[in-house]
Amino acid sequence: MNCVNEILAAIGKAGKNPDGSYTRACFSREYKEAAETAKELMREQGLEASMDAVWNVRGGLGGSEPGLGTIIIGSHLDTVPGGGLYDGAFGVAAGIEAARRLKEEGRALRHSLEIWGFNGEESNPFGGTFGSRAVCGLVDPAQPGLAEALAGVGLTTDDVLACAKDFSGVKCYLEAHIEQGDRLYRDGLDIGAVSGIVSVIRYRVTAIGQANHAGTTAMKDRSDALVAMSKLIVEAEKSCRGIDDALVFTVGTLSLEPGSENVIPGRVSCCFEFRHMDRRVTDLFLERIREIASGIKTVSFDISPMVDKGSVKCDPRLISVIDRAAEDLGYSHAVVPSGAGHDANPMAHRVPIGMVFVPSEGGFSHCGEEYTKPEDLRKGADVLYRALLTLDEEE
Ligand code: GLV
Ligand code: MN
Ligand code: MN
Repeated sequence: MNCVNEILAAIGKAGKNPDGSYTRACFSREYKEAAETAKELMREQGLEASMDAVWNVRGGLGGSEPGLGTIIIGSHLDTVPGGGLYDGAFGVAAGIEAARRLKEEGRALRHSLEIWGFNGEESNPFGGTFGSRAVCGLVDPAQPGLAEALAGVGLTTDDVLACAKDFSGVKCYLEAHIEQGDRLYRDGLDIGAVSGIVSVIRYRVTAIGQANHAGTTAMKDRSDALVAMSKLIVEAEKSCRGIDDALVFTVGTLSLEPGSENVIPGRVSCCFEFRHMDRRVTDLFLERIREIASGIKTVSFDISPMVDKGSVKCDPRLISVIDRAAEDLGYSHAVVPSGAGHDANPMAHRVPIGMVFVPSEGGFSHCGEEYTKPEDLRKGADVLYRALLTLDEEE
């Protein structure tokens, strides 16, 4: 392996679909294969590598001055269904590439280095950023449905709690990632130094109507849960556009009961997800959704919280180290926010975080069209490595 692209290609042998997209679900066979590959790649670069109970891969390299603490580099190895090669795996590959360059240059860091490939960053039955939250000690064992979901993969909540790491000696967390939006691509920029990560807020919204006969129930007498939910989604989407350009709203799942051609849907359940940097904006949007729902009289709505990951800010010092690294290398750069969630979010609750973005062609991600040019990946790995060396010079 002699560059980030080859390392990424090796990880990308796992979970490739016939249409060229990738599916490596949390705790799947495909995920395990990618994690084993990452572990081997770490070992090739001289790291001591292992897998924890929740299938996170960790590679460690001792520093020459043990009192100085640890610099962590990480990202995730799972993908969304039908996702791309780059989301997550690039960051792990860039970390392994940093270790490879250290070895090639015969350079020993003063700080210890850890490289992590996390499991379950994407939406999954255990909750997104599952692996990194486990490492950060941020998994709530009382989370509804968690114990049952874990039993399905042969684990207990105690196993998860035991994955929590002691962060007392950790200096910072760095993550390289594709941007997943189109800002860098549109502006022709090589590198983004990330300013912060937006919140991810999810509500389970259920429309409760009345299932009834599709032939005999007059239109005026219907309590159609799907029609009511559709109205709510359309109006909420309109409201979102009116509040703030940076506010985003997605309904990515919908289930319908009883789900028969000749029965009026009696119950429809969706996940409403919205994201923004500012809590006041998402609170206002939630209030609007509730108002719209209360104006739809044919059904009743239940709106219950599912996920609330607050936005986090990247560390100003790390932003400037990353920005400066790009400048010194002659790469065009800007400070940009992240509209996607990352393992850096839970990490921010423990240590200062910094993120390096590379462009996503056309802004596509979470789909088979996701693509970043090899030279852009290499530039991202260059910046991550240079930032690592700069940080290693500090205490
Ligand atoms: C993870 O990729 C997310 O932003 O949902
Ligand atoms: Mn990701
Ligand atoms: Mn993702």
